[in-house]
Amino acid sequence: MPPMTASPLPVILDGDPGLDDAIAWLLALASPEDVRVLGVTTVHGNVGLHLTTHNAGVTLALAGAQVPVYAGADRPLVRTALTAPEVHGDHGLPAGHLPEPTCAPATEHAVNFIIRAVRERPGEVTLVATGPLTNVALAFRLAPELPRLLREVVWMGGSTGQGNRTPAAEFNALADPHAAKIVLESGAMLRMFGLNVTLQAIATPERVERLRVLGNRAGTVSAELLTAYAAFYRQRYGLPGGALHDPVAVAAVLRPDLFRMQALNVQVETQEGLNFGRTVCDLYGVTGQPANVQVGLQLDDAAFFGLLFERLARLP
Ligand code: RIB
Ligand code: CA
Repeated sequence: MPPMTASPLPVILDGDPGLDDAIAWLLALASPEDVRVLGVTTVHGNVGLHLTTHNAGVTLALAGAQVPVYAGADRPLVRTALTAPEVHGDHGLPAGHLPEPTCAPATEHAVNFIIRAVRERPGEVTLVATGPLTNVALAFRLAPELPRLLREVVWMGGSTGQGNRTPAAEFNALADPHAAKIVLESGAMLRMFGLNVTLQAIATPERVERLRVLGNRAGTVSAELLTAYAAFYRQRYGLPGGALHDPVAVAAVLRPDLFRMQALNVQVETQEGLNFGRTVCDLYGVTGQPANVQVGLQLDDAAFFGLLFERLARLP
C-alpha cells in the first residue's frame, strides 16, 4: 500500500448503495481530515442502477455533503445482471424517512469521470470500490494508462474462502467476474477486503444501539438500516448482526493500521458453473504466480467500530 500522506487523500467512491455502501460513504464523508471525496460513482449491483444512483443522492443528503454523483454501468460486462433485494430491500435502503437527493446526478458518465479525475491527479487518487467492478474495468479498458496513474484501488469483494451469494463466490465478484478479472490483471495497486475479513465486522445489537443513541439522523438511519440487515444475517448465517462489508474498505483507507494484510496471487473464475466468480487466493504460494493483490486477513474490529461511532457522530 502506498504510504499515507499528511493531507487528505483524494478519493472516488464507486459502489452499489445498498445499505452497507451507504454507511461506508457516510464514514468517508465524515472524515475530511483523511479523505477528500472528489465524487461518487454508481454501478448496478444490490439493486438496479437507477436505484443505486438515487440512493447515492440520499446518502449524500444524509451526510449533508455537496459531492457530485455520476451514474455508471447499468449491467455487467458479459454475464446477466445480479441483484440482492433479499439483503437490501427492493429499493436498496430499507429505512423510512430518508431524505431526498438535493441535486441530480451529473450528465457525465461515471467511467469518463473516473478517467478525467485520475488523469487530473496522477498518482494521487484512491478508488474505493464497494460493488461490482464494472465501472473500474471499463475505465481501465478505455484508458489503459489508468492503473498506473491511480494511487490504489481498494475493493470490498471476493473472499479467501467461502462465498456468500454462492458457496464459492462473494456477491461483488460474482456480479461481474469478467470485470474483476480485468482489474485483478491490470497491474494497479490493489487492496482487497473479502468476506474472510469483513465478516469480522459484525454490527451486534449493542453496536447498533451505539449508533442509534448518537442522537443524529446519520446514526438513527444507520441503526434502522442495520436492524433490517441483522434480520437477514440472523436467519441466513445465524450471526448476531449484519457484516459491515463496505465500511471495512473505507476504514482501510482511513486507518490501514487496523488490518493485517498479505500479498497474494488472486485470480477469479470466469467460467460459468460451480466456482463462477470465485476469487482464488493463493494463501500458501503454491502456484508460484506473483502476488498481484494485498489481501486483508485480519481486522481490529473494536477499533473499527470505535472509528465508525466517532466519525458518524460528526454528521447531521
Ligand atoms: O458481498 C457483500 C458486498 O456485496 C457488499 O458490497 C454489498 O453491498 C454487496 O454489494
Ligand atoms: Ca456494495
